[in-house]
Amino acid sequence: MAHNVEKDAVTGVDTTGHEWDGIKELNNPLPRWWLWTFYITVLWSIGYWIVYPAWPLVSSYTEGVFGYSSRQEVMDRIAEAKEAQSAYLGKIEAASLEEIRSDSELLNFALAGGRSAFAVNCSQCHGQGAQGFVGYPNLNDDAWIWGGKPDEIMHTINFGIRNEHEDSRYSEMPAFGRDGLLERPQIEAVVEYVLKLSGQEHNADLLESGERIFENECAACHGPNGEGIQDTGAPRLSDSIWLYGGDRQTIRETVNNSRYGVMPAWIDRLDEATIKQLAVYVHSLGGGE
Ligand code: HEC
Ligand code: HEC
Repeated sequence: MAHNVEKDAVTGVDTTGHEWDGIKELNNPLPRWWLWTFYITVLWSIGYWIVYPAWPLVSSYTEGVFGYSSRQEVMDRIAEAKEAQSAYLGKIEAASLEEIRSDSELLNFALAGGRSAFAVNCSQCHGQGAQGFVGYPNLNDDAWIWGGKPDEIMHTINFGIRNEHEDSRYSEMPAFGRDGLLERPQIEAVVEYVLKLSGQEHNADLLESGERIFENECAACHGPNGEGIQDTGAPRLSDSIWLYGGDRQTIRETVNNSRYGVMPAWIDRLDEATIKQLAVYVHSLGGGE
């Protein structure tokens, strides 16, 4: 069809000689530089196939003469990191909490490990920042139900609270209303007294009987002035920090039905080094004793 080639009047370029329904095609070949670049990339890719893993086979792949594997590279790095960690973990396992806290290198390692173990195991109940929720204590403040010294924190983590473990921390506030231990008016009175202890508005007329009931029924666990007793896990009532809530209605509910906060034991789920790191981390959150 070459004989149909003609010069296009507008562009001055030859046509290819093809024609479809009166439409002709200009003959604009690819620029040389483009074509050569293209050939070079083809050659490059062949070289790449030879030296690097490239083609999938039925159950494997062409490995390439360099034998490179990105998976192996990741594995090597993980192994390296584990190796570096295991030295620290061994030291943490052997050291007391005091020793960990006084060695800045170990301490930094423990805080980082504790933070990530907390995010995985504890944050669903205590919150991502350990700020707590209703019924789940805030671990950032210096109000401790069971104790805020490193050893006490570790004991809580190891054995948990009100669970099946034989060494679990345990105590149970009576359900004064539900079990008929106190009459309704007595409960009303002691609630007013708790409101007073925590510095809130209260009905002064009920304080006298409320105080008497508190001394008889509550002080053994919560302390004579409602300051809380860690041995019984009875929270302080004379401040504005509440586990369940400090308004009249919530206090009444607590006294009527009591509560039964449960935390699992971790001693059989986490290794010792992890629990130590958690104890050091929780202790560092701000309120450690
Ligand atoms: C299933 C929910 C749950 C999980 C998970 C949990 N906790 Fe708790 N934790 C609680 C509850 C509930 C209490 C308070 C129990 C009570 O009323 O005394 C508590 C109390 C504590 C206390 C005592 C606070 C104090 O004032 O004495 C510490 C410390 C603690 N948790 C740390 C942890 C750590 C660390 C983890 C993760 C390894 C964890 N908890 C995981 C529910 C949980
Ligand atoms: C046997 C010990 C015991 C006795 C007696 C007891 N408590 Fe408690 N109290 C506890 C414990 C333990 C808790 C925490 C319960 C939990 O976390 O599940 C608690 C929690 C509370 C709370 C909730 C505090 C908060 O931060 O939300 C209030 C309010 C309270 N008690 C008031 C009383 C009053 C009022 C009495 C007396 C009528 C009383 N308690 C008697 C052990 C006791």
